[in-house]
Amino acid sequence: MNAASRLTLMSHDSSLASFSSAPPAIEVLSAEKIYPNGTRALLPVDLTIRQGEFITLLGPSGCGKSTLLKMIAGLEAPSDGKLMLFRRDRREKQRDLPLSFVFQEATLMPWNNVHKNVRLPLDLAGVSRGEADTRVKEILELVGLSQFGHVLPRELSGGMQMRVSIARGLVTRPRVLLMDEPFGALDEITRNKLDSDLLTLWQEQNLTVVFVTHSIHEAVFLSQRVIMMAARPGRVVDDIAITAPFPRDEAFRVSAPFTQFAQQLQHGLLAASQENP
Ligand SMILES: Nc1ncnc2c1ncn2[C@@H]1O[C@H](COP(=O)(O)OP(=O)(O)O)[C@@H](O)[C@H]1O
Ligand SMILES: [Mg+2]
Repeated sequence: MNAASRLTLMSHDSSLASFSSAPPAIEVLSAEKIYPNGTRALLPVDLTIRQGEFITLLGPSGCGKSTLLKMIAGLEAPSDGKLMLFRRDRREKQRDLPLSFVFQEATLMPWNNVHKNVRLPLDLAGVSRGEADTRVKEILELVGLSQFGHVLPRELSGGMQMRVSIARGLVTRPRVLLMDEPFGALDEITRNKLDSDLLTLWQEQNLTVVFVTHSIHEAVFLSQRVIMMAARPGRVVDDIAITAPFPRDEAFRVSAPFTQFAQQLQHGLLAASQENP
């Protein structure tokens, strides 16, 4: 690790305690969701996510994780309440939205090579070809794909396809990265490696990350805060700080604090699934 990145890590570390004073990136204000077919997907949620935080939405299938993430992204409107992004109402039309969404499927264009896939958001935004190509190269370097620009998606492993998808999300230089079970389809070793690399990106790029998973271990490894959710009806049941310091490496995964946090989350999820709202 070079001196510069060590410095970033340290500043992230020392700012942990002061997170309560960082300005909000995302505010969810009594936002709830009933889908047009009558499904009550989410009871009213109140949640503030501060700039630079890494938070995870954790809960069983059907508890409204994707619904909450889509409302933050502006892909679904709340039935009641509202959401703010950098203090601006999500209902406002905003150009150059400082936000990217990474889905579980890499959803790459099979006929285009990696470079062109990553360039797509810049092409859509009308960024000049020269500048776009420079930025694509930078971002491919960042996700460890600089040798693969000319390759077609089908020639890549699932983990590398997901790296392409992350690169495509980051190429617009978002301040907020929303990730909906991005590594859920990958084998455990690949997933662990991508988790680690994601933390490095988060720290180096000063991102705010909202990450959805149903894996307790992934939530503990990645998060500063875990928003615990329960189903039927979907709701937030707890907000738990994972106070272990960063950077976190593979040794953290087998440490006593890791196990304790995992047990705490396990108990919380169990209790939440038994109680009625
Ligand atoms: N477009 C939709 N129309 C109707 N019901 C939906 C729609 N999307 C999700 N749901 C329902 O809302 C609830 C929450 O879903 P979702 O947000 O996808 O949960 P999760 O991501 O935690 O699995 C589930 O009962 C799901 O079936
Ligand atoms: Mg989902």
